[in-house]
Amino acid sequence: MRSTWMSRAGVAAAALALAAAAPASAAEKEAAPAAPGSPRTLQGYVEQEKAFYDHLKKNHPIFKYEKDGRLVGKYTISDREEEFVEFGGGKAYAEKTGDHASITYRLGQESILDLPNKFVGSKKCGECHPAQYEKWKRSRHNLVVRFPDEMVETKDLTRPQFGEAPILPPGITPDAVYAIIGTPRTKYGFLDAWLVRGTYHVEGGLLRDGTGTLVAGGNQHSRTWAESLTPEVAKQIATWVPGFPTKLEEFGDNGSKTWGLTSYGSKNRKSMMFQPATAYCEVCHSFKFDFKSQEELIQALGKPEELRKHTINKGISCEECHGAGAHLMGARASASSNCERCHQRFVWNADEAAKDPRQAFNAYFKSRCPSCGTEGSQAYYTAHWESGMTCSTCHDPHEVTANDWRERVTVPGLKKECQDCHQAQASMFVHNDVHGANKCSSCHMPSMMSCENFGTIQYTDVAGFDTQRTSHIFKILVDPKAKTLDPPPGKDRNWKEGAWRLAKKDGKPFVDLMWACGRTSWGDDDLESAGGCHSPTRSELSKDLHFTNQQQIYDRLMGWQGPVKQGVAEAKRLLEAARPAIARAKLPPAKLGQATLMANQAQSILDTVAADGSSGVHAPRYTIEKVKEAQVLAQGALDVVGAKAPRKVSMR
Ligand code: HEC
Ligand code: HEC
Ligand code: HEC
Ligand code: HEC
Ligand code: HEC
Ligand code: HEC
Ligand code: HEC
Repeated sequence: MRSTWMSRAGVAAAALALAAAAPASAAEKEAAPAAPGSPRTLQGYVEQEKAFYDHLKKNHPIFKYEKDGRLVGKYTISDREEEFVEFGGGKAYAEKTGDHASITYRLGQESILDLPNKFVGSKKCGECHPAQYEKWKRSRHNLVVRFPDEMVETKDLTRPQFGEAPILPPGITPDAVYAIIGTPRTKYGFLDAWLVRGTYHVEGGLLRDGTGTLVAGGNQHSRTWAESLTPEVAKQIATWVPGFPTKLEEFGDNGSKTWGLTSYGSKNRKSMMFQPATAYCEVCHSFKFDFKSQEELIQALGKPEELRKHTINKGISCEECHGAGAHLMGARASASSNCERCHQRFVWNADEAAKDPRQAFNAYFKSRCPSCGTEGSQAYYTAHWESGMTCSTCHDPHEVTANDWRERVTVPGLKKECQDCHQAQASMFVHNDVHGANKCSSCHMPSMMSCENFGTIQYTDVAGFDTQRTSHIFKILVDPKAKTLDPPPGKDRNWKEGAWRLAKKDGKPFVDLMWACGRTSWGDDDLESAGGCHSPTRSELSKDLHFTNQQQIYDRLMGWQGPVKQGVAEAKRLLEAARPAIARAKLPPAKLGQATLMANQAQSILDTVAADGSSGVHAPRYTIEKVKEAQVLAQGALDVVGAKAPRKVSMR
């Protein structure tokens, strides 16, 4: 699609050329690089990649394997044009609006290819800011991009880890990779010595030596599959989820020859992306070099030691948020809204934009669950976002990992907890004798996002099973049918391909009851610490509390909410009669005072229940007791003044 975009630019260039009466032809103008000192454009990002790609196309081993007929699977070349401009509905957006836009990615201010640069390295910042440095150093922001010799969780990257699957796939040795992306949190991917994302493995030889056959897929260590979704667990799931894969071959395009190694950015033995990090990973899993020029960087490709020697930063370093060199080099110092660069991936859907131009964007989905890194796009239309809250309202930007990073779960450092703002709910919740040991996030922030991107095991209607990271939607919708995640219009709920989306009610996304209560997940701190909640596969509760469908949960909830709502209606009815009766009554002040106090006390209970807003879910027994007290008090007020309430309201 490069040509379309260029011709559009060409028109503009031609117009400019005319205006300036410059002799240059439109074609010459098109080819000319932006004048030094002029602001960067989206097109500027795209074009920056050319020399880098030209070199890779001549020198990357994949093309040599292809020439020798030692390649299994087709590849497509993915570049910045595709990723930054056409992706996430960008193509359709441009057709509709005439504007090219980077829909999914908020690009980094500095790219790997901007050389020379002003980066000084996080260690340098730590000299004067040790408090922030120490928090950050222990965090996965620091540890998500590591060199092979920093992989402390294993002695040998080619040996099985958490099951049968090794961290590096067959044929890929540590000396053939630049870095490994990932921690024991979820999954591991690799960037090869040419800074190309590993979407392949090698059979009967070694990538390092250029021997054997290069095969598409089987490239990513997925911890859930490797460790938790054992064949036994898969069989158990299949007893209540028909069609769940239990044998290696049933994992299809997502699978591989090894239990635990998924095909990611690829289809097993069929196809793969040829995707240099400049076109994708570097935006969020950053690293920066201290080469003096792009040519120096290009010369180092294929020599991982050389690349590592010249790495000044890796991971989400201080300078990714505070700017290259920060204040030492005159850059911005703090950017409190920078989280969105990596955690707010959008998609643009023409049909949604047409329906409501104020709601034109949705969270980015690779398959049937929101992708990882979409916290910000999930939150975008919520009450929180709309009331001005951003990521760092709740999060400590430096302590993104408060627990030990080698654990499988995330416990982020928070500056504000739910209770700090939601006092009405919190004061009700302390009386919870059912869920009192849980956290607010246990129900309101289910682990729903797909980071392993393991479409084969995504059964979103039963809230499983590729669920890696906590959703940021917050609102729970009590409804027997409504679902958080919907297929695109015209597709049925079994639709296996990508591009599902967040459903919205009154313009807001919501968490459905299956995800809130019955999800099946591993690596979800809330589930781990609560005996598996109501997951039919993980729950430690009695069988009748294993929720296999949403109606079952709704019916249970009605057992709590029904009596509360009915009791509230009854107390209101009595109060409505008591108020005028007290005003009319001709009684001694002591009696009137007694009736008034009782009515006020009843009202205050009703106010508390209303402010909580959960109709008993936050403290089932306590709430119904309180509501009954309100009824007794309201009836008492009527009795004191010798009045009667009108006929009972009928409740469904
Ligand atoms: C030689 C010491 C030194 C180094 C090295 C250093 N800083 Fe600072 N930093 C300071 C001082 C001094 C201040 C200002 C404190 C003040 O005026 O209250 C500051 C302030 C800041 C602030 C707060 C600015 C604000 O607006 O409140 C940030 C953010 C910051 N530094 C980030 C960084 C980062 C990132 C690096 C590494 C690129 C870095 N610093 C390196 C000394 C240093
Ligand atoms: C738009 C930003 C973005 C891009 C681009 C991106 N990722 Fe991620 N990735 C994230 C975020 C954010 C997380 C953490 C999960 C979350 O917060 O949702 C993550 C998580 C991961 C993890 C798991 C880390 C762990 O400790 O378990 C791996 C591995 C990973 N990404 C690899 C890659 C690779 C390889 C690429 C390029 C092919 C890539 N990602 C591109 C944002 C991104
Ligand atoms: C993920 C983005 C991010 C990274 C990485 C990051 N910071 Fe910050 N930093 C922020 C934000 C946002 C603030 C503003 C304070 C806030 O909103 O809480 C901040 C504030 C600061 C401040 C002001 C004092 C304070 O604590 O609020 C200093 C100093 C600082 N950062 C230094 C560093 C250093 C040193 C590093 C690397 C070790 C670093 N930061 C890494 C986002 C980041
Ligand atoms: C340059 C990209 C980038 C930016 C900017 C960024 N993040 Fe992240 N963040 C990531 C990636 C990638 C991961 C995954 C790390 C992993 O799991 O190994 C991550 C992980 C996290 C985690 C989970 C940590 C864990 O232990 O699992 C939290 C919380 C988080 N980020 C919050 C923030 C906040 C808050 C900000 C803004 C102040 C921010 N991030 C800015 C890329 C980024
Ligand atoms: C209302 C408070 C709040 C806001 C606003 C918020 N978060 Fe969170 N976030 C949390 C809490 C609480 C958790 C831990 C949830 C849990 O324990 O299940 C969390 C967890 C995370 C995680 C770890 C996910 C995992 O399961 O590994 C990431 C990443 C993250 N938040 C990123 C963000 C980003 C980016 C933003 C802004 C777009 C943001 N958060 C806004 C409260 C918030
Ligand atoms: C900084 C204050 C603050 C924090 C922290 C906070 N909230 Fe909120 N929350 C708000 C505000 C403001 C609103 C919108 C107005 C309202 O409904 O009260 C809101 C609304 C909500 C709603 C109703 C959403 C809707 O669409 O009606 C839910 C549910 C919610 N919050 C849950 C949580 C949970 C769970 C946490 C902790 C992870 C949390 N909040 C943390 C301030 C906060
Ligand atoms: C056991 C699951 C569960 C836990 C734990 C839980 N909630 Fe809720 N919460 C719900 C459900 C379900 C609703 C929706 C009730 C409805 O709309 O009928 C709700 C509703 C809410 C609302 C919206 C109220 C409104 O007016 O619309 C807020 C705010 C809220 N919860 C905050 C919290 C906070 C804060 C905590 C922790 C102190 C918490 N919740 C703990 C299940 C839970």
